[in-house]
Amino acid sequence: MASLRWGILGTGFIARTFARDLLLAGLSVTAVGSRSDEAARAFSSALGGQEVTAHGSYSALVNDPRVDIVYVATPHPMHAEHAALALTAGKHVLLEKPFTMNAREARAVVELAGRHGLLVQEAMWTRFLPHMAYVRQVVSSGALGELRTVVADHGQRLPGNPDHRVNDPRLGGGALLDLGIYPLSLAWDLLGAPARIQADATFSALHVDDQTSAVLSYDSGAQAVLHCAKTAASPTTATIVGVDARLEVDGIWYGPSTVRLVDAAGTVVDSFDGIGPGRGRGRGMHHQALAVEAALREGRTTTEELPAEESIAIMETLDTIRALIGLRYPGEELSG
Ligand SMILES: NC(=O)c1ccc[n+]([C@@H]2O[C@H](COP(=O)([O-])OP(=O)(O)OC[C@H]3O[C@@H](n4cnc5c(N)ncnc54)[C@H](OP(=O)(O)O)[C@@H]3O)[C@@H](O)[C@H]2O)c1
Repeated sequence: MASLRWGILGTGFIARTFARDLLLAGLSVTAVGSRSDEAARAFSSALGGQEVTAHGSYSALVNDPRVDIVYVATPHPMHAEHAALALTAGKHVLLEKPFTMNAREARAVVELAGRHGLLVQEAMWTRFLPHMAYVRQVVSSGALGELRTVVADHGQRLPGNPDHRVNDPRLGGGALLDLGIYPLSLAWDLLGAPARIQADATFSALHVDDQTSAVLSYDSGAQAVLHCAKTAASPTTATIVGVDARLEVDGIWYGPSTVRLVDAAGTVVDSFDGIGPGRGRGRGMHHQALAVEAALREGRTTTEELPAEESIAIMETLDTIRALIGLRYPGEELSG
């Protein structure tokens, strides 16, 4: 199969960043869809030199016969609806994180993709970065010994204006769904399903979480200690601790990063540079696109790095954390 023809749904910050990464990696951006003709045209011309068709509606984009796969980059409350729009039009979907608002929506999206024999992939780009492959390889080699603790944080000082999507409950605002999903997804990647969850949060005046901390406990005795905040910049590091050694992932751990393997005596015994010669070239979001392209080429509708079933399970854990901290969104019924 030739490389996929990507359609970009939405023209905001991350849509621009992802489209640029696709082009840097030599992949093909075929079309963009926006709620407005003007924004679609501006997006297309900003990509410069490329033949990117500008559609003035999402429905025109998903029905463009030249598009194979749609990258959905709208605010979280629209993820399920826009994924369904593309799947129903017969297009594979790469769906921004968080996958959906809750597990009920996640199950519906995955069921729809299955019914149409299409791929739906959560765009949790971190899973696909080279340093995360190194982390998984070290953990599975047994070099850390039995895993005891995963500590990860994701605090950013994001804009404070009430109409910004991270502050507006109608746009799925709050730290947990936007930023907390990263450390939570890391814990799921390395430790699987938690047995018990505790959490607490501080809320903004608009009643979305400014910061949330959670402790996940596992039947093995391991724990994950996770923190996210949208009002203050934290170190954004991750540490994976085993009885024999630990992995220290430098900030920004959820982007291309460097990792050290440190033994119990504190000696660095190995390291990995996941930034490498590509330093400064793009953001690294193309790795997920390459994995999706490889999966479809090999006739698979899922990736090993993050199967859709795990995205549902992660949404279930987010639902539990939200119930514990009392985070509810307008008009939403939380699923069990
Ligand atoms: N992977 C990452 O590193 C990363 C980083 C940031 C964000 N994200 C995720 O990407 C999604 C979008 O985030 P963003 O920062 O790109 O947001 P953004 O800059 O606000 O862009 C969102 C886009 O969605 C479209 N949209 C459709 N309905 C909308 C509505 N009612 N209000 C506002 N916009 C609407 C708009 O495109 P049109 O006007 O063209 O229709 C808008 O430009 C979020 O789910 C977020 O979690 C991921």
